[in-house]
Amino acid sequence: MTTSKATPQHGIGSGFGADSTAAEVLDGVDLTGRLAVVTGGYSGLGLETTRALAAAGARVIVPARRPDAAREALAGIDGVEVEQMDLSDLDSVRDFTARFLASGRDVHIVIDSAGIMACPETRIGPGWEAQFATNHLGHFALVNRLWPALKAGKARVVSVSSAGHHNSPIRWDDPWFERGYDKWEAYGQSKTANVLFAVHLDALGRDAGVRAFALHPGGILTPLQRHLSQEEMRERGWIDEKGEPVPDLGFKTPQQGAATQVWAATSSRLDGMGGVYCEDCDIAEPTPAEGPRTGVRDYARDPEQAARLWELSARLTGVDAFA
Ligand SMILES: NC(=O)c1ccc[n+]([C@@H]2O[C@H](COP(=O)([O-])OP(=O)(O)OC[C@H]3O[C@@H](n4cnc5c(N)ncnc54)[C@H](OP(=O)(O)O)[C@@H]3O)[C@@H](O)[C@H]2O)c1
Repeated sequence: MTTSKATPQHGIGSGFGADSTAAEVLDGVDLTGRLAVVTGGYSGLGLETTRALAAAGARVIVPARRPDAAREALAGIDGVEVEQMDLSDLDSVRDFTARFLASGRDVHIVIDSAGIMACPETRIGPGWEAQFATNHLGHFALVNRLWPALKAGKARVVSVSSAGHHNSPIRWDDPWFERGYDKWEAYGQSKTANVLFAVHLDALGRDAGVRAFALHPGGILTPLQRHLSQEEMRERGWIDEKGEPVPDLGFKTPQQGAATQVWAATSSRLDGMGGVYCEDCDIAEPTPAEGPRTGVRDYARDPEQAARLWELSARLTGVDAFA
């Protein structure tokens, strides 16, 4: 059942928490007959998400920029299909979605888990900053192009953001960092875009039964940190001298890191809800301007900024399912 009312940005007492795993969230949930698309579904949190959804009976499509690596990572998991797609190449996104739509299948779950973090300054396409272009614009084009299948499946779309969104709002006056690049601000901007995307997609999609959520999965050591040196990770206090995760920081396992996205994608407690940011398997709380790095910043859930970002993204990608 859907409702046209906005969902409050407050916890609902889901019964799950930071320690819950994706398998625990799906215990007793039967996803037979459901089709999920999981970007990045062959590494880190995405891999554990694919594993958990497939174990619960879902068919999982994993669009991969490295299909051979994806097939290797996913070997032995039943019910998974690997497809070629590079989020940083909008032609590749178009080709994947055209192939998928031609198959005539409905989509019930989309989990936008793929991402890059804190890479050196990289320009793609017409000079776009790579983190914003890959993490946000690629997923924007993907979801808009899949819209007919999402509408038919009354899908849930889960946009994997990060506490990194606390690093930066959308930089309306310099989104491409033409005045100087900062890799963490660029990651932050892209992750704020992931939240705003869910806010506006939910507003546009809810009357058709399509709902959207954003989330922070927790901190998990995965290949996402590939652009950081051991020295930088030590300086940030993430790992010790031996390269081991620092226990007090509360790093999650990949299975725990996958739990919130699996919960957002499947929980019946979220029926009729959407457009909110989640963490630790529950709806998160709003964070005041100078608050801690938990919860969600006002600038990331502001409907006006969400609509403005949608308009910009549609103009840049040339795709808008709602135009
Ligand atoms: N790990 C954390 O602590 C943490 C915290 C907060 C938020 N997150 C978010 O969680 C998500 C998953 O992170 P993770 O830790 O699972 O990272 P990961 O292990 O590095 O997985 C990221 C996946 O994204 C794929 N990808 C990257 N660029 C792509 C592109 N251009 N086209 C298609 N696929 C692409 C990667 O493919 P390749 O292997 O082929 O490069 C990989 O499969 C990210 O969105 C990240 O921002 C993670």
